[in-house]
Amino acid sequence: MSGNLATVSYIGATILFILSLGGLSNPETSRRGNLYGIIGMTLAVLATVFGPKVTPGGYAWIIGAMAVGGAIGIYAARTVQMTQMPELVALMHSLVGLAAALVGFASYIDTSNPLTGAEKSIHEMEIYIGILIGAVTFSGSLVAFGKLNGKIGGSPMLLPGRHWLNLAGLLVVIWFGREFLNAHTISDGMVPLMVMTAIALLFGIHMVMAIGGADMPVVVSMLNSYSGWAAAATGFMLSNDLLIVTGALVGSSGAILSYIMCKAMNRSFISVIAGGFGTGGGTPAPKGDAAQPAGEVVPVSSAETAELLREAKSVIIVPGYGMAVAQAQHTVFEITKFLREKGVNVRFGIHPVAGRMPGHMNVLLAEAKVPYDIVLEMDELNDDFPQTDVAIVIGANDIVNPGAQDDPSSPIAGMPVLEVWKAKTSIVMKRSMASGYAGVDNPLFYKENNRMLFGDAKKMLDEVLTALKA
Ligand code: TAP
Repeated sequence: MSGNLATVSYIGATILFILSLGGLSNPETSRRGNLYGIIGMTLAVLATVFGPKVTPGGYAWIIGAMAVGGAIGIYAARTVQMTQMPELVALMHSLVGLAAALVGFASYIDTSNPLTGAEKSIHEMEIYIGILIGAVTFSGSLVAFGKLNGKIGGSPMLLPGRHWLNLAGLLVVIWFGREFLNAHTISDGMVPLMVMTAIALLFGIHMVMAIGGADMPVVVSMLNSYSGWAAAATGFMLSNDLLIVTGALVGSSGAILSYIMCKAMNRSFISVIAGGFGTGGGTPAPKGDAAQPAGEVVPVSSAETAELLREAKSVIIVPGYGMAVAQAQHTVFEITKFLREKGVNVRFGIHPVAGRMPGHMNVLLAEAKVPYDIVLEMDELNDDFPQTDVAIVIGANDIVNPGAQDDPSSPIAGMPVLEVWKAKTSIVMKRSMASGYAGVDNPLFYKENNRMLFGDAKKMLDEVLTALKA
């Protein structure tokens, strides 16, 4: 393939990647977006493999590597549980970081295309920054993976003077960067490069260890952004324009996503990165002076729930993390179908951080074939609760906590929530009175018009469906 044809293919792939990102922003166009991504990536791989930079002698290596990598990827994608998705993503990011660091070392010791003067300095700077970002992404993502799957404790590790430690690390990295650029031979340059890599690895570990469990999903999306910049740095090292553009797309979309998630959780991006917040899955977050909710909790049976639903004209379903754990989405769909056939107006209210990853609920509902037009964002239906007969909360907790609005001392104060308590009746389906991810009590459970349907979401919904059909 000629250089020109490869360039045209790269431009085509870039356009397809942008269309893909656009398509993935909406459930109705997401399949098309995915398809654009697949075609774009196929085009990019073919143009690179058959492009002018690969000699035929390299084909066997490339095919071998693709077969091994592809087989591992297919196996991982088929076996991973939906709730394990964030860990898999973290692991994938670590590989991008590792690849960037290894490419950096390889291009430094590669003497096939000797450079001089400014060109040499720019290339070495690309290598130094590429390895730096790659190493931070690699070790940070591995720690994130460990924290997400519970192998590493979720509570933040806060070393004394940790910000000073990070600053000292940065200064040492800058100093060794100067040494690296001034080195006359490869072996002279290797020493500062190795020292910087070690510091970058330690920094990645330190940065993620300082972040608590509750903020981990933001960290994963931030590492996603880093992996994009690591790929862009690799693109500079290899003079590959497509890798630069793709890396920048991933880097900036990851950064935007982190920002959106922080906003939906009412957390500042800087305080997430600075670390120290998060429940670590168990110990409640600091509660401040938050008032303990008081009142009576009224439990209901599945038969009573079915009765309330049968009499309702309008129903809003609010799914949360518990629906994902119980894998209740298919029964939710069956109930929705049944009620809609009886003329009930059923809609879904989706909070931006419901579940444990962006779009978690949308993916599950789409998998269960719930029509997209009744799945609405929080802002689209929050005003409709007062005209709603029944709001049914399935395994959600923090995202329906009225304390976020009423109690300024609550750790989640200011977080936008779905106002289910404004419906005529709200029913919360969960197994116990336990708190959610943020570790905060929920005054909703004690409201006069609220009912609690205790039990596993899938089991209880199966019972409700049977009672509805009876
Ligand atoms: P949570 O507040 O974590 O509440 C989930 C509830 O589901 C729990 O209280 C639990 O109560 C219940 N549950 C668990 N397993 C269940 C089962 N098998 N059947 C029925 N109920 C079950 O979840 P949410 O309301 O979806 O809110 C998400 C939280 O995660 C927020 O705090 C958010 O800030 C945080 N977060 C989310 C994201 C993203 S991107 N989604 C990112 C960062 C942080 P029981 O134990 O009593 O059953």
